[in-house]
Amino acid sequence: MADTHTLRRAEITAVGHYVPEKVLTNHDLEKMVDTNDEWIRSRTGISERRIQEHGASSDMAVMAIRNLVDRFGVDLKSIDLIIVATVTPDMFFPATACIIQEKIGAKQAWGFDILAACSGFLYALTTGAKFIESGAHSKVLVVGVDKMSSIVDYKDRNTCILFGDAAGVVLLEPSTDKGYGLIDQRLYCDGAGADFLYMKGGGSLNPSSHETVDKKMHYIFQDGKNVFKLAVKGMADVAAEVMNRNNLTGADIAWLVPHQANLRIIDATAERMGIDRSKVMINIDKYGNTTAATIPLCLSEWVRDGRLTRGHNIVLAAFGAGYTWGAAYVKWSIPGSA
Ligand code: UT7
Repeated sequence: MADTHTLRRAEITAVGHYVPEKVLTNHDLEKMVDTNDEWIRSRTGISERRIQEHGASSDMAVMAIRNLVDRFGVDLKSIDLIIVATVTPDMFFPATACIIQEKIGAKQAWGFDILAACSGFLYALTTGAKFIESGAHSKVLVVGVDKMSSIVDYKDRNTCILFGDAAGVVLLEPSTDKGYGLIDQRLYCDGAGADFLYMKGGGSLNPSSHETVDKKMHYIFQDGKNVFKLAVKGMADVAAEVMNRNNLTGADIAWLVPHQANLRIIDATAERMGIDRSKVMINIDKYGNTTAATIPLCLSEWVRDGRLTRGHNIVLAAFGAGYTWGAAYVKWSIPGSA
């Protein structure tokens, strides 16, 4: 919390993102499964999503990092640590963070992956901030990336309409101005959620076999209704908790930055927090649910367009498989339009 904070603070000093060129529209999906554009838009807010045709999650992450370097002139040789949030790593091991480290030539950096699904970026951001606050490191890249198309069953209309591919990245450094940066975070998990949103095949419980593939266990399963109810409650409750303990009201918040899973979940969360729709970052219509990438993708686009700028109070909030959920309060320090 702001007033009891005695350690040095982390702030986001650079942002970047990447979305693949290929667009998969609702009309395209109408030709693949029994669905329609009207249902998808009214139930989810999604019109189209992006699909990575070639390459892996690390390739999208590298493109997002290049975008950050082009906009902010960061020397990648100075990076200390790379933390990657993803549920679609290039492979089980080595960690995608190591693959990215080699591809970008960040010779001084170590790194690791974090698996917290749609809350992954918040988990990774909080972890990265702790390395800055402790004094251990001064330049931490936090990546949120997912190639959801690699684990989606394009014959399952319950899930294939929801997800897309993208990457976002932020750079954390020690705050130079007291009062700016990552001021507060609160994270939760509840393993009872494991029955409602999962991919069961390929792990130590169900090692890959013809049987796991025949049973489609290498694809996402979601009980949408159960997740929906808890997502609204989880995101709104934790965002309210972070606002309350930092004495913030809806009027103090410039932007709510919600995980983009469903426009109805975003609207319900904003309403419960007393935040007007005009102050909510929404790009789900263009990209769908890109899992760990949604929040950094929003931050990066909003900075680029000058809509998010220095001095803004923002609240990030997410909910995902696990269940995992959380929120963070950030006093934004990057001037807009970068
Ligand atoms: O990011 C990680 C966390 N994930 C989430 O937060 C997602 C949470 N869940 C959701 O966003 C929503 O539950 C969904 C968008 C997945 C589904 O929306 P819903 O309003 O909960 O729909 P439903 O599953 O209750 O289905 C309603 C009807 C059903 O038909 P009947 O039984 O009423 O005749 C479905 O069979 O809509 C049908 N339906 C579809 N119709 C056309 C389900 N999917 C589709 C579809 N196109 N793609």
